[in-house]
Amino acid sequence: MASKGETDLSGDFGPQIEETIQHGFASVMIAMGYDLGLFDVIAELSVPNSSEEIAAAAGMKERYIREWLGAMVTAKIVSIDSTGDKYFLQANRVPYLTKGGSCNKSYAASLLVNLTKDGFEKVKASFPTEGPAGTSYDDYPGRSDHTAKFGNRWIKNHLVNSFIPLFPELKNQLETGITVIDLGCGKGASTCALARAFPRSTFHGVDYLEVNCQGAKRQAEEESLKNCKFSAGDISKLPDDISGNFQYAFMNNVFHDLAHPMTCLAEIKRILGPGGLLSIIDCHGYSAIKDNIDRVPAAVNLYSASLLGCLPLSLGAGGVGLGAMCGVEKITEIVTSAGFEMLQSGLVPEFRSYRHYFHCKVA
Ligand SMILES: C[S@@+](CC[C@H](N)C(=O)[O-])C[C@H]1O[C@@H](n2cnc3c(N)ncnc32)[C@H](O)[C@@H]1O
Repeated sequence: MASKGETDLSGDFGPQIEETIQHGFASVMIAMGYDLGLFDVIAELSVPNSSEEIAAAAGMKERYIREWLGAMVTAKIVSIDSTGDKYFLQANRVPYLTKGGSCNKSYAASLLVNLTKDGFEKVKASFPTEGPAGTSYDDYPGRSDHTAKFGNRWIKNHLVNSFIPLFPELKNQLETGITVIDLGCGKGASTCALARAFPRSTFHGVDYLEVNCQGAKRQAEEESLKNCKFSAGDISKLPDDISGNFQYAFMNNVFHDLAHPMTCLAEIKRILGPGGLLSIIDCHGYSAIKDNIDRVPAAVNLYSASLLGCLPLSLGAGGVGLGAMCGVEKITEIVTSAGFEMLQSGLVPEFRSYRHYFHCKVA
């Protein structure tokens, strides 16, 4: 009998597994093209070009370019013209593959490869009962830059214009002037976007990693933003002297990474005080694996990225290991049991069912 979501288990599995593995190899080659900027080079050349011409335009070795083209042409990503030795990108592929493309997807392949490079062996070693608990942030030197690529476009175009307007009470407060904390702010993209849009409010970004806070400070300086500051720290152990200082706490793509979510929520409650608002944005998914089959298109990506990074990072820090797919039900349960009233919850606008928001108030 077929299980939920599996339409045919009885046929020959060979073609399916072969196709899946081919897609895996193609993803690695897409990551190579993305990281090296090769899709952009080919798109800019506009007319079909030989591997020599592409190599010259990229300032790279023709022999490597040719092998990469072999993979990309046979995967039907790059096209070959009727001469048989000139290559080009079909117009419909350019927005999905180039760095500046409006629907860029190739960064996801790049994230997969980079997470695999940093995490694979250490995560593998963590599986056995007697193995280490997990990984640490030092194991993933470029993680912040890679994960930021997932959210920065949305932050730039939709955080202020589509997300904040979901909550008219909050929008009014931000316009009038309140104090906001951006928890796990990364390199400050969201803190700076909010600070720019709401000059009467003040914003404090906090992140575990000093390197992220330095990046965030640079970004704020470049934009001459005077109403935001950043500090390195653990959002599960915030300073004693900031109790009740904030009216709004924002947390984007951090919750499932937390080692100690309940401790963190208790801290958020303390620094917000009664009536304070909290928005959590996290991966969209359901808590039971069976409920993600065919309902969450990116489920395989999210479980895999979680296993390579989010989950072992939390477990490695002695945490609960929520994982990126802990799901809507689990997050709702944790947040409400921590003493927050859920005001609104739903799919994040303009994020193509990838993210879910939880907007709450200190009960
Ligand atoms: C996936 S990134 C998201 C960053 C940013 N919010 C964004 O949307 O681009 C998760 C961030 O949470 C931070 N983080 C995780 N646990 C933390 C903790 N306990 N205290 C402070 N920051 C934490 C990490 O350093 C990382 O920058």
